[in-house]
Amino acid sequence: MDDKTFRAKYGPWALVAGASEGIGEEFSRQIAAHGLNLILIARRLAGLESLAKELRDRCGVEVKTLSLDLGRPDMIEPVREAIQGLEVGLLVYNACFSPLGLFLEGDLEGKFTCLDVNCRGPLILVSELAPAMVKRGHGGIVLMSSASGFQGGSYISTYAATKAFNTVLAESLWEEFRTSGVDVLGMVAGATRTPSFDDNTPEEKRAEAFPMMPADVVQEALNYLDKGPTRIAGKTNKIFSFLMGRIMSRRTAVKFIGSKLRKLYGEK
Ligand SMILES: NC(=O)c1ccc[n+]([C@@H]2O[C@H](COP(=O)([O-])OP(=O)(O)OC[C@H]3O[C@@H](n4cnc5c(N)ncnc54)[C@H](OP(=O)(O)O)[C@@H]3O)[C@@H](O)[C@H]2O)c1
Repeated sequence: MDDKTFRAKYGPWALVAGASEGIGEEFSRQIAAHGLNLILIARRLAGLESLAKELRDRCGVEVKTLSLDLGRPDMIEPVREAIQGLEVGLLVYNACFSPLGLFLEGDLEGKFTCLDVNCRGPLILVSELAPAMVKRGHGGIVLMSSASGFQGGSYISTYAATKAFNTVLAESLWEEFRTSGVDVLGMVAGATRTPSFDDNTPEEKRAEAFPMMPADVVQEALNYLDKGPTRIAGKTNKIFSFLMGRIMSRRTAVKFIGSKLRKLYGEK
């Protein structure tokens, strides 16, 4: 899609929730390159501010930053204040909390935070922003999801379940909004070389996960946004998802992923 069409469909402002690093930072760069103004949200303000400066200088767009914990019960109040008077035509919900570990070893509070950031957050922001998009007859919503959400797997139980939620939510919204001109995409990434992937994955085991680069995931998402409802990033992830979803039994797929995750995060 050329920049003019992209701006007409999804501009003039985009909101990226979880923009300070990794895939969200890359979404912000590529959206700014299309000429949209941005509202960048994450907890760490320093990362947001340096990204904002880079995008203003490089792309000549307006950028607002908001330091906010998206898991906060009252998170919509500061968002409303930040977007007051702005026409937000594109929402990217990218933020996530991914507690790693066996289910019984993790505390309930961490699991609730995972639900708040990964599920409650997108529900609130879609509810806030989508009505105006539908009324205008154009707009876009990207919910970042994960191949972890296609089946269960040890060490990531709650996170995987929240990602299934996002994939299915995006599909439902796509179906509900598709005649209104609002595009919805559940973007399903596999392993991606972000700072949190590097922090969570021992260096010698990273290659086993066949990680993609954030820029490639984001480019595929933006290219596919007007098609929806779901896109699996990259060839390797598509092949794995096909094998596990269509060829293996559910039981075999869960055991297969479980053994991979145990090797990555559990057994030394
Ligand atoms: N990386 C992978 O291998 C991979 C694989 C499959 C799917 N994904 C999906 O892709 C998305 C991005 O992944 P990533 O690896 O780039 O994630 P990440 O590095 O963990 O960071 C995500 C962004 O969200 C922000 N964030 C996290 N918790 C927040 C909170 N409570 N409030 C506000 N902002 C918050 C972080 O900034 P602050 O810390 O400054 O708040 C950061 O900017 C996620 O939805 C994830 O499920 C990633």
